[in-house]
Amino acid sequence: MPYKAKFKVWRGDAESGELRDFLVEVNEGEVVLDIIHRLQATQAPDLAVRWNCKAGKCGSCSAEINGRPRLLCMTRMSTFTEEETVTVTPMRTFPVIRDLVTDVSFNYQKAREIPSFTPPADLAPGDYRMQQVDVQRSQEFRKCIECFLCQNTCHVVRDHEENKEAFSGPRFLMRAAELEFHPLDTADRVPSAQEDHGLGLCNITKCCTEVCPEHIAITDNALIPMKERVADRKYDPVVWLGSKIFRR
Ligand code: SF4
Ligand code: F3S
Ligand code: FES
Repeated sequence: MPYKAKFKVWRGDAESGELRDFLVEVNEGEVVLDIIHRLQATQAPDLAVRWNCKAGKCGSCSAEINGRPRLLCMTRMSTFTEEETVTVTPMRTFPVIRDLVTDVSFNYQKAREIPSFTPPADLAPGDYRMQQVDVQRSQEFRKCIECFLCQNTCHVVRDHEENKEAFSGPRFLMRAAELEFHPLDTADRVPSAQEDHGLGLCNITKCCTEVCPEHIAITDNALIPMKERVADRKYDPVVWLGSKIFRR
């Protein structure tokens, strides 16, 4: 049965803003993005929201719902009771452009700072061979839809603008790990993860993993193994050298 839900939606720009109250119709099976679209259609035509797929795959509609980082298109209205007020705010870690749209260019900057896949110079593309177990390891990381909810959630940058230069965030430390664990990648990713991308600032609180809509085990499968490699390197450089020489 349709009902009217109480919504609070943050409206504003880089200068200022406030939560505005709305009463809006909800129908069975709808998600929060449907309600935002209904608001645009009926009460707030200039409400800014970024979205593309409405299927949890483009990573565009990231926001915070009742203070929790989520995808608007994957959050069912049935998550809330009919009496509950649903509060929708933009991601807190990134500067607001307008309403629910934030400037996520921090993430693109960090992405550019990680050198791309570097196969051995003498290996032709058709000759790449790797074990299925290595394929599966990187496939988990490649499920990332770049919603940046993990980046938004991590406490190292969430309320600490000053850490953004030194810390690339879980998504990009995971990218460094993906390449480091790739058997055909010849670049040495460990020192740069630690020194340039701030791996040492991660204290494995796992909040990034908790909000990932793709359920990637960011902390357990990427960040902790990278930290172990940093520690191995520090305490046993001979083992590290051996692993480099015999990796192929
Ligand atoms: Fe989003 Fe998960 Fe990718 Fe982070 S790792 S950007 S939370 S899909
Ligand atoms: Fe941040 Fe995730 Fe580490 S939330 S502290 S990057 S485990
Ligand atoms: Fe694409 Fe939500 S609109 S993930």
